[in-house]
Amino acid sequence: LAGLKTKVLGRKVHLFDEVDSTQTIAHKLVASGAEEGTLVLAEMQTAGRGRMGRAWHSPAGKGIWMSLVLKPRIPVYFMPQLTLLCAVALCRAIGQTCAVDVGIKWPNDLLIGGKKISGILLESSGEDERLKYVIAGIGISANLLVEDYPEALRPIATSLAIASGSLISREKLVQTFLFEFEELYALYLEKGFAPIRLLWEAQSVTLHRPIRTMTPQGPIEGIAEGLDDSGALTVLTPAGERIKVFSGDIELR
Ligand code: BTN
Repeated sequence: LAGLKTKVLGRKVHLFDEVDSTQTIAHKLVASGAEEGTLVLAEMQTAGRGRMGRAWHSPAGKGIWMSLVLKPRIPVYFMPQLTLLCAVALCRAIGQTCAVDVGIKWPNDLLIGGKKISGILLESSGEDERLKYVIAGIGISANLLVEDYPEALRPIATSLAIASGSLISREKLVQTFLFEFEELYALYLEKGFAPIRLLWEAQSVTLHRPIRTMTPQGPIEGIAEGLDDSGALTVLTPAGERIKVFSGDIELR
């Protein structure tokens, strides 16, 4: 990463041709003393993982499959805020790298024209009150072409190359992302979630739209109104009730 402008993030990079998951590697590196900002990148993942136990399609040489080690001194229950921060940084970095109209679907999927181009998976250590460390896993479908996707993903997934019509520099995008992330992360650690929340809301494709989600208590339908201080999504139901959604997936309607 020759043109990297960050102070801490990405100053140490581990690059692999093929791994099971960059997340697994990053956890192991932390166990052997890796510092904050350590970045794991792979050309290909054989067992890339997504949120909620799903698999993440990570073909060779086409995407950005990376995991970033963070050691924020924040309570465990602030983790959702960090994933929202990550989505904002990614959105900004993509906007600076190629001409696409990208928006954030709560909590942290990046969409172009309703199709997913990027996903974020944060994994933390242990159940201590304060986080020991967080691995921020980021997958960006950069240069995948339609034929690189299995049939089942084609209606719901796209890439920066498909959306913009040209291949993008993965190196430039990684550097820009790390720079944007570092800035927002410093802002967050100093000022808290409020400024991040505003930035997230400005980039969101979720707000003011009808959504539906499944919760352990049953389905919820309503209009997505905004984020609360913890990063939960507030939904206004047709009955006029305000319900908070803390995790899971939403369907835009
Ligand atoms: C999701 O949208 O469900 C999250 C996808 C996260 C994928 C990335 S790719 C790099 C890192 N390694 C993994 O195994 N997963 C994350």
